[in-house]
This record gives sequence, C-alpha cells and structure tokens, in this order.
Amino acid sequence: MLPSELIRYKNESKKIIALTAWDSITGSLAEQAGADIILIGDSLAMVALGYQTTLPVTVDNMIHHTNAVCRGFKNNLGNEPLVICDMPFLSYQCGEDKAVDYAGRIIKETPAKGVKIEGAEPEIQLVISRLIRMGIPIMGHLGLTPQSFLNQGLKKQGNNYISQERIKKDSEILEKIGCFALVLEHIPASLSREIKNNIKIPTIGIGAGSDCDGQIRVTADLLGLNDSQPPFCKPLINGKKIFTTKLQEWITSEKLN
Ligand code: KIV
Repeated sequence: MLPSELIRYKNESKKIIALTAWDSITGSLAEQAGADIILIGDSLAMVALGYQTTLPVTVDNMIHHTNAVCRGFKNNLGNEPLVICDMPFLSYQCGEDKAVDYAGRIIKETPAKGVKIEGAEPEIQLVISRLIRMGIPIMGHLGLTPQSFLNQGLKKQGNNYISQERIKKDSEILEKIGCFALVLEHIPASLSREIKNNIKIPTIGIGAGSDCDGQIRVTADLLGLNDSQPPFCKPLINGKKIFTTKLQEWITSEKLN
C-alpha cells in the first residue's frame, strides 16, 4: 500500500490499524496479524535498545531496525502493510537540507514508503513541506510528542483551551501542507473527535479515545513485555510474566536432568 491510498480508509469509514515493530520477529507478528501500517517507531529506543527516552536513537539505528522488520515479512504480494519509519530526534529539527539527507537515506536504504515527524512548529512546517515536495510522504504526530520529553515530560496534552486550540490549528496546518495522515497521542477523546471530523486526512490515535480513523499501539505495550505501561494501553497479555515463567521452568527442568 502507498501512503496516498490511506485516505480511502477514511472515506469508506474503514478503521486503520497500525502496530509498531522493531525487529524481524515483531515485523513478522505485526504483518501476519494483519496490521495495515507497520511503524518502526523511535520508541524502539526503549523497547529494543534499553534507553529511558527516545532521544538517543539515531538515523542509522532506524535504518538498521526498519530493514530487520521488513526482512520478517512473508511477502504477501498485493497485501503488504504500509511501512513508515520515524525520523529520530534532531534528524529534522536541524534544518531543511539535513532533513532531506536523513529522510532520503531512510527512503533509499529501507523499504519504508514514508516517514513520521513530530510537531508543527514553523521550522518543522518548512521541513515537512520541503520533504513532501521532494517526494517523501509525511505522517504527522501531535499531542504528546515524546521527542519533546525534556520540555513537556510524558504528560497528557490538550488539557486546557489554549493547548486544545493549538493542537486543532496544528492539525489543520499539517493537513494543508500535505501530510497523508496524523498520529494523535495522549489527548482528550473529545479533542481527537473534533479533529477527526474537521480534517480530511486520517487521524490515528494512541491514548486519544476510540473516535479516530485508526488506532496505533506500541506492540510491546499490547503484549505486556515492558516493566511499566503507559496509562492509555491495557496489555492483552502479561507477556513478560508468561515468557519469564516459561523460561524459568525450562531452566529448572534442564538443571534437574
Ligand atoms: O515511536 C512510536 O512508537 C510512536 C507511536 C507511539 C505512535 O511514535
């Protein structure tokens, strides 16, 4: 699927489901489970690389992991998920030319068909417009933007009138400059509903209520693989406990033999 085809989902009221992946095993799980979009999110900094925030992850890390994810696919020709790769911290906040270089590397060196960029500050708008003009599709990301961790922490956004108006305005700007979809993270459900009804591009929510055009989750959160969970994701299973217990049982039985 190409990014431009995603609009069809919204027009036909067909829910978009997106999952993150960071290696060939999670890529294969997400693909075979039927995700429409697979995001190689910079959350891989925490779920795969053991960092505390997304800030340390590099463009080289993102390229390496995107290729690993795609090697896990079973090549369902004609039914491949749309692969999107996150632009990591300071790969697009450092000026348009560098952003073109870094986004260009992601597109040339991996099967990703677009990149995701956080925020809509005036400098970011210029970068997004330039990348789109250069032929690189952009998924926007508003609300809680984890790359702004040092300024905003991991707090819910859109809690007051000023913040809600800013997020609404930013969503209109990102639509106008040509983003093909918009991730809305950790904002009130009423705000994401308003945005969904106000813009024509698909909104994909995480911790933003059920009334978005799609939902995205960090696969490690859904499978309960982390020590701590974000407040907005209820794990489907306690993967960490299940796998640790099974491994302990195997180790114990091997030692007894
Ligand atoms: O990095 C990531 O996994 C993300 C999702 C939370 C949308 O950006």
